[in-house]
Amino acid sequence: MFKVHKTDGRARLGQMTLAHGVVNTPIFMPVGTVGSVKSLVPEDLKTLGAEIILGNTYHLYLRPGLDVIRHFNGLHKFIQWDKPILTDSGGFQIFSLGQLRKITEEGCVFQSHIDGKKINLTPELAVEIQETIGADIHMVLDECTPYPATPEEAKHSMERSLRWAKRCREVKSRDELWQFGIVQGGMYHDLRKQSLEGLGELGFEGFSIGGLSVGEPKPAMRETTDFCCEHLPEDKPRYLMGVGTPLDIIESVNYGVDMFDCVMPTRNGRNGTLFTSLGKVNIKNQKHQFDESPLDPECSCYTCQNFSRSYLRHLFIAKEITALRLLTLHNLTYYLHLIHDIRDAIREDRFQDLLKHHQQLWDK
Ligand code: GUN
Ligand code: ZN
Repeated sequence: MFKVHKTDGRARLGQMTLAHGVVNTPIFMPVGTVGSVKSLVPEDLKTLGAEIILGNTYHLYLRPGLDVIRHFNGLHKFIQWDKPILTDSGGFQIFSLGQLRKITEEGCVFQSHIDGKKINLTPELAVEIQETIGADIHMVLDECTPYPATPEEAKHSMERSLRWAKRCREVKSRDELWQFGIVQGGMYHDLRKQSLEGLGELGFEGFSIGGLSVGEPKPAMRETTDFCCEHLPEDKPRYLMGVGTPLDIIESVNYGVDMFDCVMPTRNGRNGTLFTSLGKVNIKNQKHQFDESPLDPECSCYTCQNFSRSYLRHLFIAKEITALRLLTLHNLTYYLHLIHDIRDAIREDRFQDLLKHHQQLWDK
């Protein structure tokens, strides 16, 4: 069940009741590609207040494989995470890892990056894997249209995704698990409309907006998100896949997006780039060498409550694994606090003020 409790403009405050618990929206989902959010344990994620995490069909199917996941009766037990999990269907990962691949009407043939074995990921197999994982929410197999694409290319790809979505819906077998359709169509409004209308007839529990953050200019991404939200049903959750920066997130909530995932907080953290209430911080910078202050004076995370920028810089430069963990903890705290701020602002009818604050903070 999904319920929108409150709106402020087009921004929505809601709740999804899933097999493993309730998730408040808007939500940010930390990425745990292979079954762990890199450098963290489930206990950390609970302390951070993560309500749902993301896993990837592609990676988990190759390793540890379905036999191991089945042995544990699903991914939750295997990784010791008892809250909701969302999985992506795999097509996008094959696309973005630049694997040897061939896409046909049947599915996506690719070579395992682990043992070179040839695998045919069909829509039916993608659903079987994700239902075996036991993901509270899973994605249909889709073809992510590259950017740029001609109208013909985008149409061809969108129509294939629609046919695959239908095949995914037909083999879905576990009623308690949700399945989302993925809107494609490149940057073309007419194609996006055909896509979301086609998906709309299939009865999905929610909708993802795919094919964005693939190299297009920001205005194109914003316009497409705006357009999709305007035409998607109000009573179903909307998930903007793989987005984005703190500003992307708040701008998208302004159009009516409910769900986000992105590797940015975790990956950037491991690269020494931190998001703070003062803007971006590069911890490698020499100017932090003697800095006794925390990364972010307004942050309540373990890292900011205990350590100086100077020490964090030292750990990072010395390539200590502790640095990766501390910086990941901070960045995820930033993202999850941002989401809480967004919810509070919607609840109190001051979302536009928060949006303006972030536009000023990040647009420099
Ligand atoms: N992650 C980011 N974009 C996409 C997309 O278009 N499709 C899928 N399946 N995953 C994504
Ligand atoms: Zn912090």
